[in-house]
Amino acid sequence: MSEVPPIHVALLPSAGMGHLTPFLRLAAMLVHHNCHVTLITTHPTVSKSESDQISKFHSSFPQVNQLHFHLLPPSDASATKADPFFLRFEAIRSSSHLLPSLLSSVSPPLSSFVYDMTLISPLLPVADSLGVPHYILFTSSATMLSFFSYFPTVSASLPTLNDVEIPGVSSIPRSSIPPMLLVPNSLFGNIFNEDGPKLTKLHGVLINTFEELEAQSLEALNGGKMVKELPPVYAVGPFVPGEFEKEDQRGAPLKWLDDKAKGSVVYVTFGSRTAMGRDQMREIGEGLVRSGSMFLWVVKGKKVDREEEEEGLEGLLGLELVEKIKERGLVVKEWVDQREILDHEAVGGFVSHCGWNSVVEAAWYGVPIMGWPLGGDQKINAEVVSNKGWGVWNKDWGWEGENVVKGEEIGEAIREMMNDESLRIKAAEVKEAARKAISVGGRGEVTLQKLIEKWNKF
Ligand code: UDX
Repeated sequence: MSEVPPIHVALLPSAGMGHLTPFLRLAAMLVHHNCHVTLITTHPTVSKSESDQISKFHSSFPQVNQLHFHLLPPSDASATKADPFFLRFEAIRSSSHLLPSLLSSVSPPLSSFVYDMTLISPLLPVADSLGVPHYILFTSSATMLSFFSYFPTVSASLPTLNDVEIPGVSSIPRSSIPPMLLVPNSLFGNIFNEDGPKLTKLHGVLINTFEELEAQSLEALNGGKMVKELPPVYAVGPFVPGEFEKEDQRGAPLKWLDDKAKGSVVYVTFGSRTAMGRDQMREIGEGLVRSGSMFLWVVKGKKVDREEEEEGLEGLLGLELVEKIKERGLVVKEWVDQREILDHEAVGGFVSHCGWNSVVEAAWYGVPIMGWPLGGDQKINAEVVSNKGWGVWNKDWGWEGENVVKGEEIGEAIREMMNDESLRIKAAEVKEAARKAISVGGRGEVTLQKLIEKWNKF
C-alpha cells in the first residue's frame, strides 16, 4: 500500500505584527501536528521587526525540515504611499499570478491554503484554481468576524446608522464601529464591502479564539442565525504564544520585573502600530505616577521615535515627570517580547489597546486588562473582555486623537483595575479555560485535528 503523503499547508499573512504573529503561531501548531508548512511573504515590504520575528521563529524551530519559506517580489506601487499595509496588499495583488505555479510544485503536494482576512478579493480566483480547500485566518475576534460579514448589509446607511444589531450577536454601538469604515472609499471600507459577501466562497474561516471566550458569537456564526451567509468557522485558538529565549538572554525589562512583588506591576503598551501624540504621552506618564503602582511602559510608535531621536525622553515627557517616573517605573523604547512580560508573576495588570493578539495573550497568561481601544477592531475586542469580566474599559475616552485623556482619570482607572479582586479571579478562570481549549481533547485542539483530517481525505 502506498504511503499517504504528509499534509502541506501554505500560509500567506498580510502586513503588520498583528497579522504575521498569529500566522507564525498557526504554523507552529500545524508543524506540531506533523504538517508541512510553506510561509509566503513579500519583499522588501517586510518590516525590520517582521523579518526579525520570522528569522527568530525560523531559527528557534526544531522541525525545520517541515517549514518552508517563500518570498514574493515587491510591488511596483508608488513608494510615496509608504503605508506597509498598502504596499503588502499591492505586492500580493500584483504577484498573485505566481502562486499557482509556486504552489503546484511544492513537495509534499499542497493540501490546503490559508491566507489573511484582508486578502480575499486578490487571492480568491487564485485559491479557487489550486484544487485544494482554502480558508482565511481571521486575525481578530469572532465578534469582529460577525461584524465583518454583516457590514455590507448596513454600509449604505452608515451616515445615519445608530447601533448595528447583528442577528444572534450583541449589538455594536455606532461609537465602536472602526472609524476607518466610516470614511467613504477607505481601503478597509472597500475591503469590508467587497469581501464580506465573498466569505461564502471559502471552505471556511480559521480564528484565534475559543468557545469559553466568545460562545455567543461563535454560535451565531456556526449554525446560528448567520449560518446562511457563512462557511464553517473553526475556532482553533487560543494560539500558543510559543517558547521563550534562553535564561541568559533575558532582557532588562524581565530583570527589572524579577525583584517586584507578585501582581504589583502594570504593563502598558498599545500594540505595534499606534503612535500617540506628545500631550497624551505626558498624561499617561502622569497617570502612571498617580496610579500608585509600579509600571513597565513600552513607549513606541513612529511619532514618538522621531521626537525622541531629537530630544530624548526628557524632552518628550519633561524632566520633572521623567524623574517621578524613575521612582516607580521602567520606560522601554525598543520592542519587548510581550509574552514574556505577561508571563512574569510580578505583572498584575495590562493597559492595552485590545488588539486581538494582545487580548488572547492576556487570556493565556491570566492578566486583567484595562482596555484603552484606539482604533480598528479594538472597541469590539474590549467589549469581549469586559463581557467576560476580566477587564474594564472607559467608553468615554473616544478613539485615538479625539480627546486627550487626563492623567488623573488614567491613574484612577489603573488603580481601580489593580485593586479589583474580581478581575483577578476572572482572569484566572479565563486562563484555565484557554489552556483547556487546546490541551488534548479540548475544543480548539479537536477542531484543528478534525480540520487536518479533512485535508488528509481531500
Ligand atoms: C492589529 C489589530 O489591532 C488586531 O486586532 C488585528 O486583528 C491585527 O492588527 P496590533 O495593533 O498590532 O494588531 O496589536 P495586536 O493584535 O495586539 O498584535 C501585536 C502583537 O505584537 C502581539 O502578539 C504582541 O505580543 C506583539 N508585541 C507587541 C510584542 O511582542 N512586543 C511589543 O512591544 C508590542
